[in-house]
Amino acid sequence: MANNMRYFIGNWKMFGVPKSINIVNKINTFIKSDKKYNRKYRVIITPPYTLLESFSKIFKKKLISIGSQNCYHKDNFSSNTGAVSPYMIKKIKAKYVIVGHSDNRAEGDTEDMLKKKVTFALKNKLKVIFCIGENKKERSNKLTFKTLKKQLSKVLEKKLNKDNIIVAYEPIWSIGTGKIPKSSDLSKTIKFIKKVLSNIFKTKKSIKVLYGGSVDSSNIGQFRSLQEIDGFLIGGASKSSKNFIDIIKNYYR
Ligand code: PGA
Repeated sequence: MANNMRYFIGNWKMFGVPKSINIVNKINTFIKSDKKYNRKYRVIITPPYTLLESFSKIFKKKLISIGSQNCYHKDNFSSNTGAVSPYMIKKIKAKYVIVGHSDNRAEGDTEDMLKKKVTFALKNKLKVIFCIGENKKERSNKLTFKTLKKQLSKVLEKKLNKDNIIVAYEPIWSIGTGKIPKSSDLSKTIKFIKKVLSNIFKTKKSIKVLYGGSVDSSNIGQFRSLQEIDGFLIGGASKSSKNFIDIIKNYYR
């Protein structure tokens, strides 16, 4: 059963003020009444840094887990203005951290930096949601698999604790565009990613791979039959409790 566990992760990006806690409260109320919760799926919300501590405190003993959208690539106190380290995130009781989102890669995160982020996050016992994905050009040049393999093997390695790593496949051309991959392509890609992960970690145990990119309550049904997808990283549609709850409801319809 545990192996079929799905993750619905809300990535708020640059959204949210203190009263946005209402959104998380409503989602929490919904999952509290849903017997499938924790048996079939889990919910994680990643608010911006400004809300991370208050949300983590409020939801510490509740059903939803809270995660950070990013972390810095150094872990000791140092003179990096505006930076937040994995240690600081762990200390406020957040449980997860997203690493390698294409927004951050576009703003200068290199694979070397990502490797440090993943390593320090795991060292601090955070669970890592590691994002990968090809851009439009790589896709049209049929370089998707090559790109994904490189993104995985440059950052992940056998000595890392694979049990605390979830991979999120987010094709860049799909994020925020309303476009989603064809089911047959997506199925092949997710299987490919799982194969690469098995090779990196030298294990037969399947590592969780999520899909992200324009997931909403109207298209979630298209993913239902793809059992190899272990859950979803949801941006735009996670900013409203109704949309987010409808995604879960429609997935299990
Ligand atoms: P989207 O974003 O759902 O708005 O496409 C997903 C993401 O960037 O994680």
